[in-house]
Amino acid sequence: MTKVSVIGAGKVGEIVAFGLAHKEIVNEVTLVDIVEGLPQGKGLDMYEATPVLGSSTKVIGTNDATEVAGSDIIVVPAGSPRKPGMDRMDLLKINLKICNSVVTNIKENAPDAMIIYIANPVDVMTYAAKFISGFPSNRVFGMAGVLDTARFRTFISMEANVSQKDVSAMVLGGHGDAMVPLPRYTTIGGVPVSHFIDDEKMAKIVERTRKGGGEIVNLLGYSGYYAPGIAAGEMVEAVIKNQRRVLPTVAYLEGQYGFSDIYAGVPAILGKNGVEKILEVDLNEEEKAALNTSLTSVKKGIENMKGLLNEL
Ligand code: 2OP
Repeated sequence: MTKVSVIGAGKVGEIVAFGLAHKEIVNEVTLVDIVEGLPQGKGLDMYEATPVLGSSTKVIGTNDATEVAGSDIIVVPAGSPRKPGMDRMDLLKINLKICNSVVTNIKENAPDAMIIYIANPVDVMTYAAKFISGFPSNRVFGMAGVLDTARFRTFISMEANVSQKDVSAMVLGGHGDAMVPLPRYTTIGGVPVSHFIDDEKMAKIVERTRKGGGEIVNLLGYSGYYAPGIAAGEMVEAVIKNQRRVLPTVAYLEGQYGFSDIYAGVPAILGKNGVEKILEVDLNEEEKAALNTSLTSVKKGIENMKGLLNEL
């Protein structure tokens, strides 16, 4: 039996749960939230969709956090989302409190589970989740790069007028406006992207990708959820099916890219043990400098978080 719990039945959580049920990726999805009726209602509604979808996944909604017991993976979108004018670091204090209670519960009730963190600032929150749980780093990682890369791929496909399916791209670094999309490692059907898009247009696409989360916040008044939820589902599938996918993952660095004791977005192999391997690709001077800027700001966030953790 495969079971995934999703903690937080807001917009991102419901898309994660629905994606897993829709694609029949696991036998059971448990949707947990503190708001009475919310996870039960959303869970039942999704469950009732499964006969039509041709899926045998069970979807359970509950307010009882101990029901995460027996989960292979626990996905955590629970947290306050961004509002216009806020950056992801502004969420640190409020989301850290939630992280502390969610992860303490996971530690007690599902000590063998993997944790995939989504709530922002995700690099810092994933670090906090590892710190609070004491789980090994291969079992605690975060979702950001699959989303950032999906945005990058979408914008590239719009510009090149080709299928987004054929765009293969990479984004490194922290999940903030200093993230590092890498056109040099981006191809369309195996053909370097420079064949389709000139440098000037690519620079605009890189900038739009960096600000992609904010673009949605400005349009909706709150954060996106379709792309983030589906992106997390892809990571769950890679682990549950031991696919050994190469996906950009918020992973724990121990010397890779010149950084240690930090979580940040890097390409990783995801399989049955979670993060099976972090891949270190060659960067030119400009890319290295951009990555240093991004990771230095994540490091600062982690230091702030450690200070706040003592106050909880
Ligand atoms: C995003 O990029 C909210 O961080 C999330 O849309």
